[in-house]
Amino acid sequence: MNIYCVDLNWDIPLLAPDVDINFFKKARHTKGSMEKLHPLLLDHLYSKAVSISFIEAFYSEPNYKQGIHSDKGGGDIPKLNWVFGGHGSLMHWFMPRQNISIERKYTPINSSYIDYTRDQVYHVHSREIGKPSLVQAGIPHNIVNGLEERLCLSLSLKEISMEKAIELLVE
Ligand SMILES: [Fe+2]
Repeated sequence: MNIYCVDLNWDIPLLAPDVDINFFKKARHTKGSMEKLHPLLLDHLYSKAVSISFIEAFYSEPNYKQGIHSDKGGGDIPKLNWVFGGHGSLMHWFMPRQNISIERKYTPINSSYIDYTRDQVYHVHSREIGKPSLVQAGIPHNIVNGLEERLCLSLSLKEISMEKAIELLVE
């Protein structure tokens, strides 16, 4: 099993029927809320004993290249990501080269991350993200777009390892 990214072959709607996906395209980083998610998705996650701790969306233009970072303070952080558009975009994963000094930073919606320069890490894996994919966001990673704009809706999962998330969510 791939420890960086696993596609989930779900046929479950993401957003509640009254939610316009364009709401998440107004800013690069938007905080979501539980009532924006479809009840069938919430039921499915509940049936798998998986809880959501945070909902956010990342919008980026064609050819956007995100800085390499780990979410929060790094570690083992599985997320459920749905990508709309973004044809040709890739998520890349890296490993830190050595014990480098790290500084926690904060986004405009108050989520935190650790920044890395390219020479502090080495590349380990790349994948296009699906609808949804379970991704590891606790190790250094970034998104590089192709010629299409990209919207990623991302659900953080409460107190769960990537290994456990795979066990519970991959059918
Ligand atoms: Fe991230």
